[in-house]
This record gives sequence, structure tokens and C-alpha cells, in this order.
Amino acid sequence: MTGFDRQQALVTAIDIAREAGALLMDGFGREKRIERKSSAVDWVTQYDKASEELIVGRLRAAFPDHGLVGEEGTNTGRGDGFRWYIDPLDGTSNYAHNFPMFCVSMGLYHGDDPVLGVIFDPIHAETFTAITGEGAFLDGPRGRRRLQVTAETDLAAGLLATGFPYDVHTSPDNNLNYVNLFTRRAQGIRRAGSAALDVAYVAAGRLDGYWELKVYCWDMSAAILMVQEAGGRVTFLDGRPIRLEHRFDILVSNGALHQPMLNIAAEARQAPMT
Ligand code: IPD
Ligand code: CA
Ligand code: CA
Repeated sequence: MTGFDRQQALVTAIDIAREAGALLMDGFGREKRIERKSSAVDWVTQYDKASEELIVGRLRAAFPDHGLVGEEGTNTGRGDGFRWYIDPLDGTSNYAHNFPMFCVSMGLYHGDDPVLGVIFDPIHAETFTAITGEGAFLDGPRGRRRLQVTAETDLAAGLLATGFPYDVHTSPDNNLNYVNLFTRRAQGIRRAGSAALDVAYVAAGRLDGYWELKVYCWDMSAAILMVQEAGGRVTFLDGRPIRLEHRFDILVSNGALHQPMLNIAAEARQAPMT
């Protein structure tokens, strides 16, 4: 990675994410053409596609040797070791219903190692960024601040987030047994509809933890680094060390709540649905 200017790359990535966010804001509240993907509840709009097209075009121009993987079909192979994982619109269901919670997420990896990430929420004008080893930051209407996870040690006082896979109507592996247990043990549970923002909010100390089944690499590429750089902890949902696989089950926390959350996840795996 010698000679690669990570700061400059982050500046470029922020520009691109904001440009894509502006495109999404143009479409927000307008009528959408909705197509179904993997299931009846897995939607895609013309704005998801237009956002990916914009991001991929701009990244290609800026980093012609980098690999690109995007949710809406981009896959250019490995490149020279650098690879961007792109979610051009995380929170499509929200967006399609005019529910104002969604973002653009882009994470850069070198082989298996995270390099940098940016998550841009155009509704709240918030830009979450991280560079490996250099911390995570939030730029928003209230200025710029370094991100730090909460110090909460009591799960009963913790606010957690989760989400559901798009096969929730048909698969028994649908997260409902985890929701059942976590709802009874935490102070509160949120299902805001954007996995990348859920995890960015753990980094920002607005949530204490998050878990989800069957997330994709583009949901988490920027978010994992964000929370690690903010002092939090990330593992697979069964406790194994995290790595960015194509699709996986994940647990994110402020660190202190990680083991208690892993214990509940283990209990939920055993528990019959009630
Ligand atoms: C989805 C959202 C949602 C999460 C799903 C994701 P999309 O991404 O992040 O919160 O529960 O697992 O697939 O389809 O809106 O990009
Ligand atoms: Ca997503
Ligand atoms: Ca998406």
C-alpha cells in the first residue's frame, strides 16, 4: 500500500458519496419505479441504480486500478489489491416509502484489510468517515467531532438496533428469535432500516449495540471500520473474529456489552420461537 494517499482518497470518496446523496435527494419524495429482486419485499428503484452508476463512474475515473463491488451489479474483479464495496442506497425500503432514513456507503479494502470508509446521510447532512488507525469522525450541521462508542456496561440500559433479511417471510432463519430475547433484555430495540447507519450510530454513541443476520459486504464495508475506530467491537454473531465476507451474521457493540450480547445470541440460536 506504500505511496497510497489515504487522506486524499477519503476526500475523493466523501465528494462522491455527497454527490450520490444529492442524486438520491432529487428523487426523494418523487414517484419511484420499483422492481423486485430476491423476494417480494426486496425492492430496487431507479435511484439505487443511478446512484451506483454515478459512484462507479467517479471511482473508476479517480482510481482506475481499483476493484469495484456494488450492490446493484458492479463487480470488476480484484484490481491491484484495492477494492471498493459500495452500497449506493442503504435503506431502499425507507426511501421507497419516503421514510427519511437512508445513506450512501463506501468502504475501501486492501486485500482483507479495511483502509477507509464513508457513510453519507443526506437527510441529516451527516458524513461519517474513518481511516484505519486514525479514528472515526462525524461532520454534520453541529460541526465535526471524533466518534466514540458509549461506556454503557448494563445491557438493561442499552439501546440496540437490528434489521431483517429480505427472506424474512419465508426463511426460519429470520432473526425473530433474536429479537424476542434482545427485546426482553435491553432497554430498547430500533429497526431504523439502514444497516450502515445503525452501525455508524453505534460508533457515534447513539446506540450501544447492533446485530443482524445475512448482511452483505456492501452494507458493512465502511461501518465495521467506523465502529472499530470509535473504540467498539465487531465479531461474527457467533463470536468468531470478523472479516468482510460476501454475506454474514454480525454483532457490533461498544465493547463492554459484547460478551453479554454474544451470550444472548447463543441463547437465541438454541431457543425455539415463542
Ligand atoms: C438493507 C438495509 C436494512 C437491513 C437489510 C439490508 P438495502 O439494505 O440495510 O436495514 O436490514 O439487511 O439489506 O437493501 O436497503 O440496501
Ligand atoms: Ca444495504
Ligand atoms: Ca442498497
